Amino acid sequence: MTPAGHLTNADRPIGVFDSGVGGLSVLNALREELPHERFVYFADTAHAPYGERGDAYVGERSGTIARYLLETHRIKALVVACNTATAAAIHRVRADHPMLPVIGVEPALKPAVALSRTGHIAVMATRVTVESRKFETLRASLAAQASFHIVPCDGLAGAIERSDLPAIASLCQKYTADAGVYGSDAGQIDTLVLGCTHYPFIADELRRHTGETVRFIDTGLPVAQQTRRLLGQAGQLALEGDGAVLLLSSAAPESLDAAASRWLALSAGPASLARTAIAATV
Ligand code: DGL
Repeated sequence: MTPAGHLTNADRPIGVFDSGVGGLSVLNALREELPHERFVYFADTAHAPYGERGDAYVGERSGTIARYLLETHRIKALVVACNTATAAAIHRVRADHPMLPVIGVEPALKPAVALSRTGHIAVMATRVTVESRKFETLRASLAAQASFHIVPCDGLAGAIERSDLPAIASLCQKYTADAGVYGSDAGQIDTLVLGCTHYPFIADELRRHTGETVRFIDTGLPVAQQTRRLLGQAGQLALEGDGAVLLLSSAAPESLDAAASRWLALSAGPASLARTAIAATV
């Protein structure tokens, strides 16, 4: 690496953001796939959850965070590790920064269609995501191939943010039941799409209601692979970096810190490389 402040393109970090802790599920996959990259993770905790707010609000926050990560941390790529922000705002972020590789996440409907045998697929996501035009276009393009049981999960990401276990338990019970009946017989749901990056962290709780045989699909791995592809094409892959992670939160950083120690798979690198979360006013 060249002296501080003169990082080469490949040495610059990858920015990752979410409304809160959910994007850590994507960061886990990114660190596995790209062990030499440095990451700056931004949790917009002061403004979470995004999922029941309007597009304009989420668009405004996404634009502000993208600008901050570029100007202050000189990121070389941005992963929008939030289905809600991707649905509401990724087109604006791309238009504002045409030279920046921007990778988003969206509910994995296509992989679910490929895996499902019964053709009945449950999709859990935030209200902003499921009511977005982007999601509707995706669903409509696959409507002939499967029946989608779509559940807007109001309050669930917020409960995960607060680590509110009783609320998580009752919302999981309600929303899995709202989708329908699970199993591998005709007419039953055999595949569940986790359409919010917070939900992989409560997979065990969801499974209590769906049973063991239902397949859960999230988007961490494909997003990490797409990030690798785009950086490779741009000649910007880091080949020998230390894999350091900088954790930033727009509110008091304790909840991000606690979530990172609980959920970030630090075994992918020395624990000391993940810095204690710090507050950033953005
Ligand atoms: N983790 C986010 C998502 O993937 C947003 C959850 C929220 O803030 O409501 O949709």
